[in-house]
Amino acid sequence: MVPSMSIAIDGPAGAGKSTVARELARRLGFLYIDTGAMYRAITLKALRRGLNLADEESLKALANQSRIELTTDPDRLTRVFLDGEDVTRAIREPEVSRHVSLVARLPGVREIMVRRQREMARCKNVVMDGRDVGTVVLPDAKLKIFLTASPEARARRRQLDLQAQGHHVPLDSLIQEIAERDRQDSCRSVAPLIPAPDAWIIDSSHLSAEQVVEMIAARVLGRSS
Ligand code: CDP
Ligand code: CDP
Repeated sequence: MVPSMSIAIDGPAGAGKSTVARELARRLGFLYIDTGAMYRAITLKALRRGLNLADEESLKALANQSRIELTTDPDRLTRVFLDGEDVTRAIREPEVSRHVSLVARLPGVREIMVRRQREMARCKNVVMDGRDVGTVVLPDAKLKIFLTASPEARARRRQLDLQAQGHHVPLDSLIQEIAERDRQDSCRSVAPLIPAPDAWIIDSSHLSAEQVVEMIAARVLGRSS
């Protein structure tokens, strides 16, 4: 295996980034880092404290004071700890999903998160997923993937995930929510969601997560052998 190799997976919500990145990391024996979970954890803390999400200084101070840990346990579940509390479920609540892009657009918050993400990846083989991993966090990543899918396919996946948790959400409202988050993430001035010029763009609208993992693993193993 090539020493200290990083793989960046970016793309819009529901493209399958976490599913693919986690399985790829397991197959390759790499560390998986979910950068979105870090922005979600800060957003959860800000919402709990009733902070004004447009107040960059408060949010920056909050990010600075917060301890965020990501672990992947043997059954491949990624757990997220905020100041020692397990917030794995809480950060996926719709309230957090609706507000996270507001927090993630603040340059002061991003600066702190990016620094921590680079530290987590230092001298390790990692698969890191997010929005700006290939463009900002790890611009020297050995392989950059931009994973996407049609808004309808992504909303349908979200709907199935929610159904499995006992929530029935109409497809239309999920398409709208995803489109709004895409718009906010793509139009912001700092680290917008765009493919790195050297990214491999994969449209997974008609692919299973397993097929996507297989395609990427084949390329990585082909390269490093
Ligand atoms: O899982 P999902 O695609 O819904 O989103 P996520 O990866 O958990 O990220 C949540 C939000 O955090 C995104 O909509 C972005 O606003 C922000 N984010 C970011 O700005 N930069 C990253 N590297 C990762 C996430
Ligand atoms: O991280 P991101 O928001 O990009 O997506 P995710 O949280 O991995 O959710 C994607 C959902 O769609 C999961 O339930 C996957 O099993 C499913 N899926 C996928 O990830 N990739 C496909 N090509 C097809 C379905």
